[in-house]
Parts: sequence; structure tokens; C-alpha cells
Amino acid sequence: MPAMSSNVPIMPDKAKQRLCQRLHLHAAEQVDILLHAMKAGDAGRQAVVLSPRAPQGYEPPFVCADKTRYPWLPARVRIPANGESPTRYADYAAGLYYVLDLSSCWAGSMLSELPQTPRRSLDLCAAPGGKSMLLAAQVELRDHTANEVNAARRGILRQNAELCGLPNTRITGLRPDQWGNSGELFDLVMVDAPCSGQSLLCKGIKNPGCLGASMVRGNAKRQRGILLAAVRCVAPGGYLLYTTCTYDPEENERVISYILRRVAGFMACKVPAMELYQTWLADFPAYRLLPHHEAGAGGFCCLLRRDE
Ligand SMILES: C[S@@+](CC[C@H](N)C(=O)[O-])C[C@H]1O[C@@H](n2cnc3c(N)ncnc32)[C@H](O)[C@@H]1O
Repeated sequence: MPAMSSNVPIMPDKAKQRLCQRLHLHAAEQVDILLHAMKAGDAGRQAVVLSPRAPQGYEPPFVCADKTRYPWLPARVRIPANGESPTRYADYAAGLYYVLDLSSCWAGSMLSELPQTPRRSLDLCAAPGGKSMLLAAQVELRDHTANEVNAARRGILRQNAELCGLPNTRITGLRPDQWGNSGELFDLVMVDAPCSGQSLLCKGIKNPGCLGASMVRGNAKRQRGILLAAVRCVAPGGYLLYTTCTYDPEENERVISYILRRVAGFMACKVPAMELYQTWLADFPAYRLLPHHEAGAGGFCCLLRRDE
């Protein structure tokens, strides 16, 4: 945990209290630590994932930081050393690696818990392609569907998939309810849900209203709908990975809790590598990353398994 310094942004006590309540932090002091980390910490840290196009033994052409601080990181992920900009190299333009933030890799590392390579996988909210890239870095893609409802974003997804050489991948643009009614079943469904994006604040991106009740409530409703459709696509014995890039329990722990209550036959999986991040806001295993954990901007993830 970083030491407190005078770098902490000034926030009135009442606003701190509200933030503390909204995010269910332990105490007001945590808000200071959080704000400090948002402003000065490791929060905007980038990572790169080696793409399927990268040949065996390939290493990126820049200096990489020590990975031992992040034992959960997938093997094909590298962290550029401070100050390195991985996008300025020809290898990036050639699709040998894909750039994303460290907390996406944190969430994607949950896939290490899969006992075997999925025969069929579906990335339901796929653009611009980071989670599919992380999946390809950890297992062989046999029959993968990268789905994106937004047409413009789907174009970017297609470009990235082609550039990085995602194998055995089809790009689709169905809504989650259409997938739910399709009768298609997958051994792995990934839902990297649209969310209030509170972690964007850590990357210096303005996100007005992201801490407000109405934005959070609206997103939680959409997430419940997406998940109710997604669970219908999970084959018996299959897995569903739910991830967000927000801190709010209403969009995270409570959404999963709702699904576990509403849908029979699913349980949340314990992922030993992520134990450090287990949330205390749920009575099932799920993981919460906050900016002061110093592993990127933050987010939430939970892996569900459907009974055989
Ligand atoms: C967090 S982003 C996905 C990021 C992506 N998985 C990655 O790692 O690069 C969420 C995606 O969900 C899409 N989306 C928005 N509303 C949706 C909805 N109602 N159903 C499904 N997807 C939606 C957005 O267009 C966006 O591309």
C-alpha cells in the first residue's frame, strides 16, 4: 500500500463520505489512499499481450518491467518499463502484440482457472478485442466467436483480430438476448460488461456521473439483462467470466449475487492466484481490484461454472 503524501487531491469530507459509502470502502482513510493512488499511482499502467502472430520465443523490442510483483499475470503478457510507449514500434503496427491496461490482464488472468481448452468460446462484448486476445494468449482458440453489438466498434474489433491473427475466430454482431435465444452453447462465455467505468478516472479520462446513483443503477440493470442472456449460452460444465472496469458493488458483487439467486445450476469459482483480491462484499468468491492495489486502474471479476 503506498505511503500517504501531500499529493492527495483535496475533497470535502462530505464528498469523501459519499464516495466511501458508494464504493463500500472500510473507512474514510481509505478514500484518501484511493484518491492518492488515482492521482499518482500505478493506476494507468499499460501492459502488452503477445499476439498469436508473434512467433515462438518472440520478445517485444522495448525494456520490460519485472513481472514478479504480479504473480497472476499470464505468461504471454509483458509490462513495458516506466516511460516506454509500446505503440511506437513497428512490431505493434505489425500486430505482434496488443496493448491494454494492466487491470484488463488482471481480470483476464482468471482464465488460468479453466481446467481445459474450451472447444467453443464466446466473447459477448468483445470490442476492441482485449479479452479475446488474452484468451488466445492462454489457450488455443478452437472455435471462437467475438461478438460486438456496436457496428463501429465491431469494425475495430475485426481489424484487431485480423492484425493480430486471432485463429478460428468469427466476428458477429448479435444482441445478448439474440444469443440467449439462439440455442448455441459454449464451454466459455466472457462478459466484459459495459459499465459506469469508474476506473477511467484513474487514467485521467473524464467520466462525468460515473459515481452517481443513476448511472450506476442504469448500468447494473443492463448488466443483469446481459448476464441473464449469457447464462443461457453456457454449456453444461462450462464457464462464464464476468468482468467490469468499475468499482461499484451495485454493478459487480450485487449483479452476480442476483444471477446466482435467479439462475439455478451456477456457482462462483475460487481462483487461488487471485486470493489477495477476494472481495469482502460477497458471500461467494469474486475479486475486486482498487487503484491502491497498484496493479492498474481497477475493476472486478468473477468466474461462474455451470453444473454438468
Ligand atoms: C468494456 S467494453 C468491452 C471491452 C473488450 N472486452 C476488450 O477487452 O477489449 C463493453 C462492450 O460492450 C458493448 N455493449 C454496450 N452495450 C451493450 C449491450 N447492451 N449488450 C452487449 N454489449 C454491449 C460496448 O459496445 C463495448 O464494446
